[in-house]
Amino acid sequence: MSKLSIEEVREGRVMEATFWLNPVDGEKFRFRATHLDGRRAPKVVLSDDARITPGTPCRIRVKKIHKKDRKHRGWIEVEFVERVSFEPDGVYLDPVVSKKLQVCLESGLNILLDGPQGCGKTVLARAIGQALGMELVFFNCAAVVEATDFLATIQVRAGEGGAPVTDFVKTEILTALEAANANPGRRYLVFLDELNRCQESARNALMPALDSSRRVFDPTTNRFLEIPDNVLFIAAVNRGSEFSGTFGIDAAQLDRFAPIQMTYLPPEEEERLLAGRHPELGKKVIHAIVDLADRIRKMSDLASGLSVRATEEACIFLKHPLFEEDRWSALPEILKSSFCGRFSGAWNDTTTDAGAVWLVIERALLEE
Ligand SMILES: Nc1ncnc2c1ncn2[C@@H]1O[C@H](COP(=O)(O)OP(=O)(O)OP(=O)(O)O)[C@@H](O)[C@H]1O
Ligand SMILES: [Mg+2]
Repeated sequence: MSKLSIEEVREGRVMEATFWLNPVDGEKFRFRATHLDGRRAPKVVLSDDARITPGTPCRIRVKKIHKKDRKHRGWIEVEFVERVSFEPDGVYLDPVVSKKLQVCLESGLNILLDGPQGCGKTVLARAIGQALGMELVFFNCAAVVEATDFLATIQVRAGEGGAPVTDFVKTEILTALEAANANPGRRYLVFLDELNRCQESARNALMPALDSSRRVFDPTTNRFLEIPDNVLFIAAVNRGSEFSGTFGIDAAQLDRFAPIQMTYLPPEEEERLLAGRHPELGKKVIHAIVDLADRIRKMSDLASGLSVRATEEACIFLKHPLFEEDRWSALPEILKSSFCGRFSGAWNDTTTDAGAVWLVIERALLEE
């Protein structure tokens, strides 16, 4: 989204902002923000209003724009109006989860999002980053074998005369840590996706980064790199029983995160979400899809969950002109692939997960 122009920030205007402690020591303003209404502000936003809680979005009123005409100087002075609840756009957030998240973000705790496949962990992290005007850095841990893989990978290429030369290629994490050290006024949210799927020994090496020592070994310089306070980590783990064998995060590692449990959004909310994204489909069809997904998610003996990607995929098929004519009769065939296809086995083999799911679908559709 584009940067706000100074004309858009009029004195007296009420806008949304999230403040952090002003990194400049001895400043007369304790709080500082870089974004207004989710867009980058033309000047730094400062306040000394004691009602402000760092890390919590609030509404403010613009009191005065200092040195309005100087492009690279001046500041926007604001006063607190009220707190706003933490509600990222387009994402359903459980009210309790939302409160816990607020506390973690305020106190700079690392967060561990723990929930089944496709329940919204990644969209949530993305939304939080956006809502707080943080730079979001995605990193998938599944490919990490050695500790240094978190920060750099080694690439071999042909050098002069064809002799092999090895180079370090920095990962997104290392690039972000360097940027965070260089830009103390910006905040970085490092998302460690699928943390449970990387090698245990590699994960161990990341641990000092996450506790109070806040440093990590940088293989590209052979030095320890400081992790500044403007970097926060959110890790996601997928604890479906399918992964129970590899969950492998030990107590000491878990202890460095504030764990937050997530589950699938309630059926009413999932229906609302899908109806908003696929208005071409009638409410009845969407209700049927979500109701079936809900029944399947309640089956206790399946090896994995049924993602919101599956219900969304069914909607995408059904709204296509090829299926538009008779959606109800197309529904079973579509669910055979979009739902049963996500489980092991075959839809017509009742001894498998896919077959058990098909039985539930068939029975429910007969009831209709
Ligand atoms: N609470 C939610 N609010 C909005 N969209 C959601 C929510 N939960 C799931 N979705 C939808 O489901 C899709 C999958 O969500 P997401 O990728 O965040 O799941 P995940 O928990 O990270 O899954 P995985 O464990 O496979 O990484 C998203 O594209 C999004 O459209
Ligand atoms: Mg994910």
